[in-house]
Amino acid sequence: MQRTLVIIKPDAVQRRLIGKIISRFEEKGFAIIGLKLMVISEALARKNYSIHKGKDFYEKLIEFMTSGPVVVLVLRGKNVIEVTRKLIGSTFGHEAAPGTIRGDYAISDRFNLIHGTDSVESAEKEISLFFEKENLMEYEQTDLKWIYDTSGKDII
Ligand code: RTP
Ligand code: MG
Repeated sequence: MQRTLVIIKPDAVQRRLIGKIISRFEEKGFAIIGLKLMVISEALARKNYSIHKGKDFYEKLIEFMTSGPVVVLVLRGKNVIEVTRKLIGSTFGHEAAPGTIRGDYAISDRFNLIHGTDSVESAEKEISLFFEKENLMEYEQTDLKWIYDTSGKDII
């Protein structure tokens, strides 16, 4: 099963939206296999967002991401990278569709509550920036057979 990294950003923690945001992913059927509350160091923020280095918003983005505690999650499930991005919604809160996390709770460009890995290539790299292997819990999801059809060769 695929895995992705999600960061509940400092604005969402301060606005006490952690529970609501995590519920979206749990209700969808994803398993939480990594979870921690932390303040991201400047060096780690720069690594995670290195793709944006040099862009005009980069320094402000680093400042924001290191400005307070965040919750970092690793989610596991079918096509979890793409589905998580859909649940999060488009980047700017004022453009994100209602029903998405940003569409329902964010209005700002920068204070957009949540980060989700955007590609298969980045997912394992981002996960390893935040979690040691032994801190990821690869437990069996007991309701898996009611979330997916597991009766055949593939889980669908
Ligand atoms: P994220 O990485 O945080 O999940 O957000 P995203 O994929 O939807 O957007 P991305 O393009 O990766 O941008 C990272 C963060 O930088 C800020 N941003 N500002 N043109 C701008 O002013 C601009 N573009 C991006 C946003 O806060 C975005 O979350
Ligand atoms: Mg991004």
